[in-house]
Amino acid sequence: MTDFFDVVLSQRAYRSFSPDPVSDAVIERVLTAATHAPSAENTQPWAFIVIREPELRARIGELTQRAWEGGGRQFSADRLTPAMLADVHQGALGGVSAAPVLVIVCGDTSHCVPAVLEASVWPAVQNLLLAATASGLGSALTTLATRFGEELREVLELPEHVQAMAVVPLGYPAKKLGPPKRLPLSERAHRERYGKPW
Ligand SMILES: Cc1cc2nc3c(=O)[nH]c(=O)nc-3n(C[C@H](O)[C@H](O)[C@H](O)COP(=O)(O)O)c2cc1C
Repeated sequence: MTDFFDVVLSQRAYRSFSPDPVSDAVIERVLTAATHAPSAENTQPWAFIVIREPELRARIGELTQRAWEGGGRQFSADRLTPAMLADVHQGALGGVSAAPVLVIVCGDTSHCVPAVLEASVWPAVQNLLLAATASGLGSALTTLATRFGEELREVLELPEHVQAMAVVPLGYPAKKLGPPKRLPLSERAHRERYGKPW
């Protein structure tokens, strides 16, 4: 069994993928991990739409690109490092939608009150990302395309009570990334009271 800490400490946002296919068995294992996440009152208010069709992926890619070029890039440009900006840029301009699989993660308001819907879906996304990493897949949590919720609704034929929350590309990495950069724990953890350093 893969060591949990090896997985969680190496999980990264991948935006470039090899075209190698991902089997249904692997997808099912990853989605099963997603469905083992906690949710308010165990309502499990998620829906996963697994997209392989090139035409559908291209349509999601167009929405992603439109969101990036129509404001996303300008919004992020001053805050991201040049390397990260370049990576997000190539992801938005086709890297993400070129993944052999896109999982559209949705929240279903018919299962869960709106106040806790998002908090009940994000843990499932994190499980999905970790399970993908444990399976040797690259993945990323992306939300750019969800700026066009109504277009996504039409493309994916979502009923009114289901909203798209994230687009997660899945595929074998074009190139394995190094470990993620994160702040030392001491910059974010406190003892007993806020401001008392760890
Ligand atoms: C709420 C949220 C939205 C995100 N949206 C996007 C997105 O639209 N496009 C993208 O390329 N990455 C997106 N990301 C991925 C982040 O850029 C990534 O998790 C972060 O930079 C850390 O990357 P690393 O794990 O490779 O270090 C999003 C992450 C989160 C948590």
